[in-house]
Amino acid sequence: MSDGRALARVYLEQQRLLGTDAVTLPPAGLAASPLPDLAPPASRPPAVKTTDLPPAGLAYDPPARDLFSADPLQQVTTLRGVAELVAPCTRCRLCEARTHTVPGEGAEDARLVCVGEGPGRTEDQTGRPFVGQAGELLTKILAAIGLAREQVYICNVVKCRPPQNRTPLYDEIAACVPYLFRQIEILAPRVILAMGNTAAQTLLDTKQSLGALRGKVHRFRGIPLIVTYHPAALLRNPNWKKPTWDDVRIAHCLLDG
Ligand code: URA
Ligand code: SF4
Repeated sequence: MSDGRALARVYLEQQRLLGTDAVTLPPAGLAASPLPDLAPPASRPPAVKTTDLPPAGLAYDPPARDLFSADPLQQVTTLRGVAELVAPCTRCRLCEARTHTVPGEGAEDARLVCVGEGPGRTEDQTGRPFVGQAGELLTKILAAIGLAREQVYICNVVKCRPPQNRTPLYDEIAACVPYLFRQIEILAPRVILAMGNTAAQTLLDTKQSLGALRGKVHRFRGIPLIVTYHPAALLRNPNWKKPTWDDVRIAHCLLDG
């Protein structure tokens, strides 16, 4: 197929999946991403040359696992083990109103980890992350880069639902974040997608706004981290779908690179 037709197909598919009516042209120098499909990455051409990637951003390097620590969280070596520690957790006040903890779910060998803020109502009822409306949109966003939900790992900064879906408070995040850090350590993904302010600011240890953090390749313990809008924010403001598409394409490029 000619390049032009391939590009057109990519854009039409993008519009179909993301529900936008605008066509998103790749930033100068960025090649079109391959069509969404489930082909193994090795069979796809790299979507972008490393030199075309956005500039480097922040790097956050919290201390990693201490082999001699007596902390049970440091001793577990599986995602299931982390979830078993989360289930009875009372480290912060969010335990009081929860129905279920929502530790996260996905592939043990996920190359991409998607991090949101905290469980909403449906997540609290089911114990699963991103299963409400925002979750449906996340599933579509992942499909747009050829990834099935089951191929990635999806989790949140806090594992219990904040009352009325309020933003988690600083002390709640501080209490819960060791679980997330340990999950990332166990998964050792190739790329992290931080969705929304809470995930971005927590994983980069910064107060910078989402707007300032987008469009750069940050690092969390050396792992490339891309910041984008939270799917729930996209439901409220569809104008952010286009920039989100740009962000996930960068994440996709890093996955294949
Ligand atoms: N929003 C989040 O941040 N996480 C979920 O799991 C669902 C909605
Ligand atoms: Fe524990 Fe995190 Fe739930 Fe707070 S939000 S009770 S720290 S699992």
